[in-house]
Amino acid sequence: MCGIVGYTGKSKAAPFIIEGLKRLEYRGYDSAGVAVIQGGAFEVAKKTGRVANLEKEAARHKLTGTTGIGHTRWATHGGVTDANAHPHVSSDGKIALIHNGVIENYNAIKTFLLGKGYTFKSETDTEVLCNLIAYHYEKEATVAGESRLLESVRKTLHHVEGTYGIVALCIDSPDELITARRGSPLIIGLGQGENIVASDVAAIVSRTQNVIYLNDREIARLTPGEFSISTLDETDIVPVIDKVDWSIDDADKGGHEHYMIKEIFEQPEALENAMRGRISEDGSTAQFGGLNISPGEFRGIERFMFCACGTALHACMVTEHLIETFARIPVECDHASEFRYRNTPLFRDTLFFVMSQSGETIDTLAALREAKRKGYKVLAVNNVVGSTIAREADGGIYQHVGPEVGVASTKAFTSQLLIGALLALYIGRMRDLSFGAGMRYVNALKGAPDLVRKVLNQAPQIKEIARRYAHYSDMLFLGRLSLYPIALEGALKLKEISYIHAEAYPAAEMKHGPIALISEKCPSVFLAPKGEIFNKIVSSMQEIKARKGPIIAVVTEGTELPAGLADDVIFIPECHDAVLPIVASIPMQLLSYYIAVERGCDVDKPRNLAKSVTVE
Ligand code: G6P
Repeated sequence: MCGIVGYTGKSKAAPFIIEGLKRLEYRGYDSAGVAVIQGGAFEVAKKTGRVANLEKEAARHKLTGTTGIGHTRWATHGGVTDANAHPHVSSDGKIALIHNGVIENYNAIKTFLLGKGYTFKSETDTEVLCNLIAYHYEKEATVAGESRLLESVRKTLHHVEGTYGIVALCIDSPDELITARRGSPLIIGLGQGENIVASDVAAIVSRTQNVIYLNDREIARLTPGEFSISTLDETDIVPVIDKVDWSIDDADKGGHEHYMIKEIFEQPEALENAMRGRISEDGSTAQFGGLNISPGEFRGIERFMFCACGTALHACMVTEHLIETFARIPVECDHASEFRYRNTPLFRDTLFFVMSQSGETIDTLAALREAKRKGYKVLAVNNVVGSTIAREADGGIYQHVGPEVGVASTKAFTSQLLIGALLALYIGRMRDLSFGAGMRYVNALKGAPDLVRKVLNQAPQIKEIARRYAHYSDMLFLGRLSLYPIALEGALKLKEISYIHAEAYPAAEMKHGPIALISEKCPSVFLAPKGEIFNKIVSSMQEIKARKGPIIAVVTEGTELPAGLADDVIFIPECHDAVLPIVASIPMQLLSYYIAVERGCDVDKPRNLAKSVTVE
């Protein structure tokens, strides 16, 4: 969602902050701003639109200060205007603040502050928070120099309901940053004679790989040469310094036009990385290092519950199919946002999983906390090492696919499918799946990266097909069994980046309503691999064709469809059931990508979307 960068050090703060904001743009980007302290005052530049707009604006302001804060905003309170962009400065000119999250009681605080003579230029909850810090700063006048800002922020946060990740500056202490979090991620980067705070390591790794992940209800004070962390209740924290295992090169576009296509083509390696070290020595099952559950405990599990949002939920649905098929244990999947409020009756021997690329999605985090509150163990499948979900889960499986920058998830999704397949194998082998079946399964998984390469080689043909479908306004995606979630994912991808209205159904369900939409103006994408229900899917295609609906069919190599049935055909290699969803995802990604490019859409930064949604 919104992005945060703060810097205090020896070099000019603004260029580093703006560079960092560019790396965070994918989190949310309706406006951006930067503030530095120079000449005894704040110099603030902010602008709606892209960080590139801010860069031009910042050049006009000649920002030379060596301590500063910057922010990319995804509007929650107040429209998209320059005035609502962060940073905000208190009406007495003392405090500047950037903030991710939502302050729920901001109205009551605003009324209080108006009564005390504070004034407001924006409609944001952040400006209210900023003025409340200024109010406490004024009241803390007797506190010794270096603690005064820290104590004012601490006092302020005791009065705040809601979520926040904040960084505050004060005009009286020009090399100091105060940062605190509750519900929004913040990471401190420890450099040489400089310290950084950001909402994402991508903004830090160009300077340092030594980081500290701030926990909820912690507050930190940074100067160029020092840092200290305590809880909001004033308990000192002994920090754990982690080393980030990826460099800035991993987050660059590497010659591709968009991050999304770069990440689509990275999938064979991403799958290899997600699989590395996770096959048992005898080659018949999976192994995981961080589940923190003994095989015995695992064997006692009678049910699984998976919660996630968006693309990650589709990966859970495929995992459900694989676990039920290969391990014969009931699995339930739920929207993380629904689980929390549904008060689902739960069985005792249930193991919870959450899946989240970012590990910061607030709905998924809330589901994790709710399950833990009810006494269940929760494991996480997650890509971002050190994310909030990774830290709060009882154990889990990292995806290890490196940073995913494109808002539309691709390599993170297929690696989640792979991990889901490994899980189904692991559980299956504890039960009825034989040694031989396990070996065949493992060999199939090992072959997945090459099969994905094979489909990626068809990118030029898929691009041609995409061109012919880019002008439509509606599309249907139809698949069955493990490919129904892939149809859902195909429709989601198309909606997200091309803004074409798309829906997905189990293919046979299409005749119970959606068929009313079919005409020459509404194409259908069919996922129709070889298998026992192939003929049933062909019948569904006939029903669509009889109503003049154009058809793109994704079929197994060597399949011959009745003449004239499909308008366009994409071939995928024949593969094991555990690998099929991964392989079938590739044409979905390429179709939506090339359609969006053909329509001139901003693929990496689709409108209204954010990569990591940290508000409920
Ligand atoms: C947002 C993104 C989706 C993503 C979902 C879950 O809604 O726009 O693309 O699938 O969050 O993200 P997560 O990081 O939890 O996997």
